[in-house]
Amino acid sequence: MSERVDTQLIHGANDKITEAREVNVPVYLTSTFIQKSFEDHSGYGYARGNNPTREALETLIAKLEGGKASFAFASGMAASSAAFSLFNNGDKILVSGAIYGGTYDVLKDVFSRFGIEYEIVNSDSLEELEGKITDNVKGIFFETPANPTLKVTDIRAVVAIAKRHNILTILDNTFMSPYLQRPLELGVDIVVESATKYLGGHSDIIAGIVAVNDQQLAERLHKIQAVLGGIIQPFDAYLLIRSIKTLGVRLDRQVANTEKIAEFLVGHPAVKAVHYPGLKSDPGYAIQKSQAKNGGAMIAFELTDEYCPAKFLDGVKIFTHGASLGGVESLIGHPATSSHRSLSPDFQKELGIYERTIRVSPGIEDVEDLIEDLNQALNNAKL
Ligand SMILES: Cc1ncc(COP(=O)(O)O)c(C=O)c1O
Repeated sequence: MSERVDTQLIHGANDKITEAREVNVPVYLTSTFIQKSFEDHSGYGYARGNNPTREALETLIAKLEGGKASFAFASGMAASSAAFSLFNNGDKILVSGAIYGGTYDVLKDVFSRFGIEYEIVNSDSLEELEGKITDNVKGIFFETPANPTLKVTDIRAVVAIAKRHNILTILDNTFMSPYLQRPLELGVDIVVESATKYLGGHSDIIAGIVAVNDQQLAERLHKIQAVLGGIIQPFDAYLLIRSIKTLGVRLDRQVANTEKIAEFLVGHPAVKAVHYPGLKSDPGYAIQKSQAKNGGAMIAFELTDEYCPAKFLDGVKIFTHGASLGGVESLIGHPATSSHRSLSPDFQKELGIYERTIRVSPGIEDVEDLIEDLNQALNNAKL
């Protein structure tokens, strides 16, 4: 029987119930496994290669993503790095539009030293993307909605271009999670995600996942995971399984809060522009609707020149000014000096990240309190 997503969230990790018939997946704190005789081992060898708690999480994620396999890592960056490790010296990866700053950094500072080239392409123009494809382009990496601009890219269109040229597509699905968007079902080859964010949901762990729908890719990634060794630890895997049980209820509430906050921001005199693909007026609305459950729970907005971002961020009382997103508590941040600080100001502007850009990750608090908090902080931020 193929279960629906809300049932998978609760039961999807419980394939391997032991004789004790536990309700929750046990935390297997063991680095190795007993080999009873030369011929007789349990299927588990050394825990960097495999661990039952991690395996339960990976089974759950594969189901949620609608894929054949998933791999869990110690961070979102370790997950993206595992995906980049599939490429060879001389290969080129096209990076479409705005992405998380750390992902640029690992391409620029690490993988390019190993001869894996990359080029940033404007994701607004799919013609431009296709025009950049040369013989050595072997991958397209993108985020949609993008961090922090919330620009939406047409997943099906990027996949169609990639398939025409026999190129792998890698999508960072952190801003959506498989509850809101399942890129593998739209033809994407590899999904990476910072599980630190919505999957974890409580701002307490750092973790990452890679999911695929192809056996060969799965085997290659399993090997990369085992030899690079950036695995998630069993207790964090347990915490993620536990957190994922409430992914749906958390996100339903976060999306509802976000929709109200976006409407409030649109009407506030301190706000020049609101970027949220759940707003009908947003340029990405129609595509977002065609490929995701809703607009998600992230907003970016620009303050007008009369309002000071630092004063505003220092003035919030319920929102936490911090670098992450996706937790049950509302977080707010300034991408130009945090998540994207390593990019030059000119490059930030090219991507649509300005000195007055604010990124908001509403949590599950009472939305009226959240709106009142933003309202008082905005009103007090006038220069
Ligand atoms: C979209 C996106 N991808 C990847 C990452 C990296 O994940 P982690 O911090 O878990 O390594 C982040 C972190 O902020 C992110 O926002």
